[in-house]
Amino acid sequence: MNWLAATFASSIGKKLLMAITGFFFCFFLAVHLAGNLTLYGGSDSFNSYAAHLHSLGKLLVVAEWGMVLFALIHIITGLTLFYQNFQARPQRYQINKSAGGRTLGSATMPYTGVLVLAFVIFHLLNFHFVDKSQTTIYDIVSAAFASPLYVILYVIAMVVVAVHVSHGFWSAFQTVGANHPKYMPTIRTLSILFALLVGLGFGLLPIFISISA
Ligand code: HEM
Repeated sequence: MNWLAATFASSIGKKLLMAITGFFFCFFLAVHLAGNLTLYGGSDSFNSYAAHLHSLGKLLVVAEWGMVLFALIHIITGLTLFYQNFQARPQRYQINKSAGGRTLGSATMPYTGVLVLAFVIFHLLNFHFVDKSQTTIYDIVSAAFASPLYVILYVIAMVVVAVHVSHGFWSAFQTVGANHPKYMPTIRTLSILFALLVGLGFGLLPIFISISA
């Protein structure tokens, strides 16, 4: 465990932990979105997707605990970096200037991060930690999105997730060394495309379900 303590102690180590766990969450979002697209196929298609997922049994439990561990690393490291940046404010502004200015995503990273965490807790209480013995997961999702309040909350949350991802995706590539000027425009475009995919892909689902139910 010494290597973990040493990694966490150094600034580049912390950035690397953020990048690795961040890439993992981007991968999770892509897989989760692909699964959720079965909602467009209606009750049978979504319930059978969920049944396939749960048939993974212990593998799913291991993946879920892995995700909890990665989330803890991402949150604790992110908050530590935020605190250290906050303490070194004068230097931070100079560094940001020389890095070519700030975007909405980069300037709001800690705040959108906390909002994403709040959303995930709310989301798990809605759809994960619920009694599914007398109903189906499709019915739970469509009952939630029958409420306009839920639809609005989810759509706003998806915008926040997209803003967080737009900078996170780009920043993770920078950290792992893909910051050559030749690749920068491509990585920037990829980050924007991925953020749009996440924002629109997830964001349109509650609207579709609320009007089709
Ligand atoms: C409209 C958007 C979304 C819908 C309809 C949706 C739907 C669902 C459903 C139905 C489940 C429960 C699956 C089950 O237990 O059978 C679930 C789990 C989960 N969702 Fe979402 N989701 C959405 C967006 C998101 C976003 C944006 C995130 C992350 C930022 C997220 C993170 C999670 C996590 C971490 C789980 C638990 C996975 C597990 O334990 O297997 N979801 N989602």
